[in-house]
Amino acid sequence: MIRPRRNRRTSAIRSLVRETSLSPADFILPLFLHEDSTDTPIASMPGVTRWSIPSLVREAGEALALGIPAVVLFPKIEESLKTSHAAECHNDNGLIPRAIRALKAAHPDLCVITDIALDPYNADGHDGIVQRDACGQLHILNDETVEVLTLQALTHARAGADIVSPSDMMDGRVAAIRKALDAEGYTHVSILSYTAKYASAYYGPFRGALDSAPKEGDKKTYQMDPANAREAIREALLDQQEGADILMVKPAGPYLDIIAKLRETSHLPLAAYQVSGEYLMIKTAAAAGWLDEKAIVIESLTGIKRAGADLILTYFAKDAARWLSSAS
Ligand code: PBG
Repeated sequence: MIRPRRNRRTSAIRSLVRETSLSPADFILPLFLHEDSTDTPIASMPGVTRWSIPSLVREAGEALALGIPAVVLFPKIEESLKTSHAAECHNDNGLIPRAIRALKAAHPDLCVITDIALDPYNADGHDGIVQRDACGQLHILNDETVEVLTLQALTHARAGADIVSPSDMMDGRVAAIRKALDAEGYTHVSILSYTAKYASAYYGPFRGALDSAPKEGDKKTYQMDPANAREAIREALLDQQEGADILMVKPAGPYLDIIAKLRETSHLPLAAYQVSGEYLMIKTAAAAGWLDEKAIVIESLTGIKRAGADLILTYFAKDAARWLSSAS
């Protein structure tokens, strides 16, 4: 009789037939930072901290020591520096360029990834430049935004970023950033594109962490409709054609079908972002004693990898790396 259970009989046999393996080398740790010299726990994301630059360097060093090869940086910008054209995003002495230089000086082997989008710098809290028409309607200007995004990417490249990661969802931004980087001699800087970034309620805790929620309106005219899957394939084909080096799906857990589809669509490496809301749901349920945090984290990350992601951005990266190494 055919008995599938034979392949599950012992731990040794299960490890031989296991189809998906998770490793700290798969993880990218998102890190928040601010200008202050003290570190601030983020109320909307228990267990996550907004760091000063020196603490950020220490935290990234700990991640690297755990086998996590990369971090991605998210800045909280002081209110007084936010403007309608987000000019602070391309200040060579701004918070992010200084953080990149500090990280690279302390950890030359760390892969430093930066977010390309205007929301932390924009007085309106949108990822792009906002224009109000005569009827009072808001419009997010595409091509004007892309120009500023290319300046932001160049600023990060000059400071030493390894990978720039456009999360804004403007059309044509990957091609424009690639062209600008190449023209300035940054042919070695990679683009990790948020290919299928959905207009998701799961980003709520992140916006609390950075005070970056849109002041008015929502992000539905640029981020994707959660109801759409074919549109993600269209975005993936465009990003690939425009020169993206790595594609991304975001959020991860509720969009495993999209991860699986993009895995089939493109041969580029694929990343998935387990976002703040996914983190918060696990954290709060575990804090209440309703879920086993370690087991749920490993299962959720394994599911994301099994669906087809090669890389995972997760706030659990350090804990998961520790749990994986103590399990083996
Ligand atoms: C902003 C950006 C967001 C996230 C990453 N980059 C929020 C948004 O689009 O509103 C969300 C990350 C998370 O929720 O963990 N461009």
